[in-house]
Amino acid sequence: MKNILVTGGAGYIGSHTTVELLESGYNVICVDNFSNSSEKVFDVINDLTGKQCTWYNVDVCNIEELNKIVAAHDVNCAVHFAGYKAVGESVEFPLMYYQNNINSTLSLCEVCLKNNVRSIIFSSSATVYGPPQYLPLDEKHSLSATNPYGNCKLFIEQILKDVNVAHPALNIALLRYFNPVGAHGSYRLGERPKGIPNNLMPYICQTALGVRQELRIFGNDYDTIDGTGVRDFIHVVDLAKGHVAAIKKMEADPGCFVYNLGTGNGTSVLELVNTFMEVNGVDVPYVIASRRVGDIAACWANPEAAKEHLGWEAQYTIEDMVRDSWEAQKALGVCT
Ligand SMILES: NC(=O)c1ccc[n+]([C@@H]2O[C@H](COP(=O)([O-])OP(=O)(O)OC[C@H]3O[C@@H](n4cnc5c(N)ncnc54)[C@H](O)[C@@H]3O)[C@@H](O)[C@H]2O)c1
Repeated sequence: MKNILVTGGAGYIGSHTTVELLESGYNVICVDNFSNSSEKVFDVINDLTGKQCTWYNVDVCNIEELNKIVAAHDVNCAVHFAGYKAVGESVEFPLMYYQNNINSTLSLCEVCLKNNVRSIIFSSSATVYGPPQYLPLDEKHSLSATNPYGNCKLFIEQILKDVNVAHPALNIALLRYFNPVGAHGSYRLGERPKGIPNNLMPYICQTALGVRQELRIFGNDYDTIDGTGVRDFIHVVDLAKGHVAAIKKMEADPGCFVYNLGTGNGTSVLELVNTFMEVNGVDVPYVIASRRVGDIAACWANPEAAKEHLGWEAQYTIEDMVRDSWEAQKALGVCT
């Protein structure tokens, strides 16, 4: 498998994965409509890797255009990042989420089948586990969703499993990410949300920068180490490497697979904020607010299956994650 299609390749995780793929010797063809990113990212990617990433400003839902690209590049494997990702927004605009996230996947499946693409790797999420019945979460844990974003992930997982049953020659890897943070070590790529950040780390960074007045920590009365929510933060470069490992696995061993990509370590929100302040020597003013509806107390991965079958294991520490997030934030600035 040499030619890899990356949908959403200009985005946060897609851009880091594109770098890892190019550095591992793959040819990368990115398709993005830049609804949450900029084409400038590709100049950075080419500069960092010394290689040429081919890219198209195309909506993945546009089946004709996508088909032309996949046929022209003799694509072997598709890594599917394209989609909307804000939980709150998905509650407000469910149809927009179903239309974009589901239709882009249907379109990709059609095109992959038509062009004999061998594998699809899908960006799923720990959100598909719903409230944990036990911890750490392994891939056998029951699945549920409480919002349209999570429903999209669940539905898409099922769609891809069904496609694999009907078309076993199309291999599937469902990668369930935990909480991606951090940035490339050059600090030229990173997470640059448009407007007010939905995710914790960009909010911490923007508060440290003075763009946001204070961070609100939602709940300090959970049954956790310090009462704040616990999550499994994973460095985006580790996550990106997980995709390369999944591609290699599917070259050797076809099928339909599900893997958690997490570190296996839970870190509380307060621990993360304190580590951020200590490592970076900056202040992050915060207040404790009441719990948010739908938030869970604690969630972290059992990453053993990925370790055993993909030979992949997260390497970066929490200290690395807070340092790289902050350095990239300072270098890249805020996207308004
Ligand atoms: N970041 C996280 O915390 C997280 C956690 C779990 C899963 N995921 C999933 O990983 C994937 C990538 O997330 P990210 O953080 O890099 O998000 P992102 O918004 O930075 O990247 C998504 C990219 O897809 C593009 N896009 C969206 N719809 C498109 C369409 N129809 N056609 C072409 N391009 C389109 C956007 O312009 C953007 O560049 C998403 O599917 C997301 O749901 C993210």
